[in-house]
Amino acid sequence: MKQPSIVLGIETSCDETSAAILIDGQVRSNIISSQLIHSRYGGVVPELASRAHARIITEVVQEALSKACVTTSNLTAIAATQGPGLVGSLLVGLSFGKAMAYGLGIPFIGVNHIEGHLYSNFLSENKPAYPFLSLIVSGGHTMLVHASSQLKNTVLGQTRDDAAGEAFDKVAKMLGLGYPGGPMIDKLAMNGDAGAISFPRSFLKSNGFDFSFSGIKTAVLYYLRDSGFLADDVDPKSMDEEHRANICASFQAAVVDVLIAKTISAAGKLNIADVTLAGGVSANSLLRSRMEQETRQRGLRLFYPPIEYCMDNAAMIAYVGWLKLQHGVTSSLDIPAVAGLELV
Ligand code: KG4
Ligand code: ZN
Repeated sequence: MKQPSIVLGIETSCDETSAAILIDGQVRSNIISSQLIHSRYGGVVPELASRAHARIITEVVQEALSKACVTTSNLTAIAATQGPGLVGSLLVGLSFGKAMAYGLGIPFIGVNHIEGHLYSNFLSENKPAYPFLSLIVSGGHTMLVHASSQLKNTVLGQTRDDAAGEAFDKVAKMLGLGYPGGPMIDKLAMNGDAGAISFPRSFLKSNGFDFSFSGIKTAVLYYLRDSGFLADDVDPKSMDEEHRANICASFQAAVVDVLIAKTISAAGKLNIADVTLAGGVSANSLLRSRMEQETRQRGLRLFYPPIEYCMDNAAMIAYVGWLKLQHGVTSSLDIPAVAGLELV
């Protein structure tokens, strides 16, 4: 009888320490430990992130193994995120995975974090069919990727400056909403008027598939300054609730408009029937509902992962590791952590 393929995945690219076990591509455990320490700084502090990963990684891996009822001697291979991400954070998971694979004498596979997000829609029962188009939107990335077949991807466009999630986080910080800001803006926007303030929609009219979100972030900053909310003696929290909800709704609508327009245009140009959303921002309720509407109108199928697989998680890393293993691709133990690793 064929032995099952048991892959341990490790993800430490930013502020989530995660480990997962997949058996023949099915998730058996996916442990995610989020670092709360960054909320008081309004963003991830790299040095604190890598120290926190180092403190907790052993425990997270042990929990993933025990929840899946697997021991280290059962493992077929270990996959860990190689990049992109914070180099100090990446090094913790990558070194841990390599050392474990070396000690156990099993293959090691370095995985691109973005490729992990790209395959996060394969962790559920309902999977997209090739070729598909994926909008990957998170705190670190905003990208449109064409997946023509297994592990064959082309980047159609990406952000030239801030990622969409980064813009959410920075605007939330200006409004005194804490970190991460996306979920708070999403919630407050539900009670706001998206037409109240006109924020710019960068690159909306251009034919290419690149994005830019630093302009809208600056537009919100100028709006707050001109409305008197950035003075040293003014607490942004003193703004009345309706006004704040209107800012959140208007900002969110501008970001979502661009994300949707580019995705729908790419699907049309490439004649693609299946569209996926991935990454932390794919949890956004307006993005999901508007994308549902736009894809349905055009007869396209839309896929987005459950929240657990939208955020950074090791199950998606283990999945790519498992796919690579099927294709006979493994990594040398010499591979470095690469902060700006490209998706090729
Ligand atoms: O994929 P992820 O967990 O980590 C990165 O790879 O960056 O994404 C985190 C990002 C943060 O910027 C967070 O504010 C954003 O996803 N986010 C959201 C929502 N939930 C999380 N942005 C908008 N609306 C949401 N509901
Ligand atoms: Zn991510």
